[in-house]
Amino acid sequence: MSLNVIDGRQLAERLVEEMAEEVKTRTALGYQRPGLAVVLVGEDPASAIYVRNKIRTAEKAGLHSVVTHLDASCSQQALDDIVTDLNERDDIDGILVQLPLPAHLSEERIINLITPEKDVDGFHPMNVGQLATGQAYLVPCTPLGCLEILKREVGDLSGKHAVVVGRSNIVGKPMASMLLQANCTVTVVHSKTVDAVSLCKQADILVAAVGVPELLDSAWVKPGAVVLDVGINAIEKDGKRKLVGDVNFADVADICKAITPVPGGIGPMTIACLIKNTLVAAKQRGVKQPVVKAR
Ligand code: GUN
Repeated sequence: MSLNVIDGRQLAERLVEEMAEEVKTRTALGYQRPGLAVVLVGEDPASAIYVRNKIRTAEKAGLHSVVTHLDASCSQQALDDIVTDLNERDDIDGILVQLPLPAHLSEERIINLITPEKDVDGFHPMNVGQLATGQAYLVPCTPLGCLEILKREVGDLSGKHAVVVGRSNIVGKPMASMLLQANCTVTVVHSKTVDAVSLCKQADILVAAVGVPELLDSAWVKPGAVVLDVGINAIEKDGKRKLVGDVNFADVADICKAITPVPGGIGPMTIACLIKNTLVAAKQRGVKQPVVKAR
């Protein structure tokens, strides 16, 4: 089978360019430049890289962006105050608090505190409920990126058997909801599933989001399947640090129809979808630029 490695970087760049055009058009019509606020707590190196990439992409799309960096030892009250202020600011359309938070801070509290209209992560229970009931408005960025890829690679998803490996709130659960909404037959496989391998082997579309390096090899994949690898795992191989996904790329590549690489697959699409969500939130809020009165 001729292998199709899906270039997530190129696809994301195209999406960001399209959105930059849209931002230009909207600002020319007098709307406020869409604003994204990112809050980072602590010094986790992976989180710092993610935040830097998010801000860089927001700037490429012409968004106004604000980063707040708090010390790892900050209090829950200090973090709550930052989010409350961002909720009230007119120039901010989207708020993202980078997860995970240090153990003494409550992620649940922060997810619930961000106003649903600015929840560009799609993690607030109101947005989760809207997705589950088919009224999606702001939905989690990683599964949204996966869906954008599937629309291009597969087209109509109706009747396809999609298997999602992993049941996290960030990827697995919303991914399953979105695929169901797109008329797939959906199976969710997790750590307590009996015979996960044979269930995955039936998938037309296989989404791996478990966080276990190279867990899925060719025994898990049906010939001709489309495989989306959401995992980003740092491992040591031959004395070198390396990023790998949840799929054993070399073993699976020969049998699948298309596959996303790690890095350069789902990661850039997740960031492009964050920008997309910020635009959705900005359009919904519809804030105009302040009128400057002539003296
Ligand atoms: N950490 C890892 N992925 C994500 C994400 O999609 N959103 C936030 N806020 N934190 C993350």
